[in-house]
Amino acid sequence: MIDRQGSVGLREILPRDLVVFFHHQQDTEAYELAKVYPRERADFDAHWDRILKNPSVIARTIVFDSEAVGNINVFRVEEEWFVGYWIDRTHWGKGIATRALAVMLEIAEQRSMFARVATENIGSIRALERCGFVKTGEHVSEACDRFMACTEAWFELK
Ligand SMILES: CC(C)(COP(=O)(O)OP(=O)(O)OC[C@H]1O[C@@H](n2cnc3c(N)ncnc32)[C@H](O)[C@@H]1OP(=O)(O)O)[C@@H](O)C(=O)NCCC(=O)NCCS
Repeated sequence: MIDRQGSVGLREILPRDLVVFFHHQQDTEAYELAKVYPRERADFDAHWDRILKNPSVIARTIVFDSEAVGNINVFRVEEEWFVGYWIDRTHWGKGIATRALAVMLEIAEQRSMFARVATENIGSIRALERCGFVKTGEHVSEACDRFMACTEAWFELK
């Protein structure tokens, strides 16, 4: 049973959050779990600049007991809506991703919503399932300059 103490909320992203997110995505254990290569500073800044200027993206900072501990984003890929999230490793296993996702699903009304996650990423899969996402299949994802090769589980929330 995980300890679900502490409050979890979402707020608009502030400029000072970006340096926090930069370090989160450079954590080796975290990016190996997510099967994604970390971005270098210039690439990271350009990426977040695009996110924050895109009116269709719903991007939020995850706040745990008043500390910025991660981010969660709903974004469109072609005609489909996806959700993605990232939590500071020092706060894993406190139910933060699950609670942040539940809050985001109240803000973001887009349905269907999709998520793709490496089958090894048990924590992310559990958070999706607890929030009502249903697995629709598994697909082998080839390596590219951004992502590591892995087997992905595809999820949908109708
Ligand atoms: C995946 C990630 C978001 C999970 O965040 P988290 O706040 O630790 O998740 P939660 O605490 O809400 O845990 C969700 C569930 O998974 C379980 N869990 C978490 N980590 C686990 C692990 N390594 N192994 C097994 N179960 C795990 C929890 O016990 C909980 O299960 P329960 O609801 O049955 O009690 C976090 O590890 C992370 O940010 N990883 C790097 C980025 C990433 O992978 N993003 C997602 C890409 S799809």
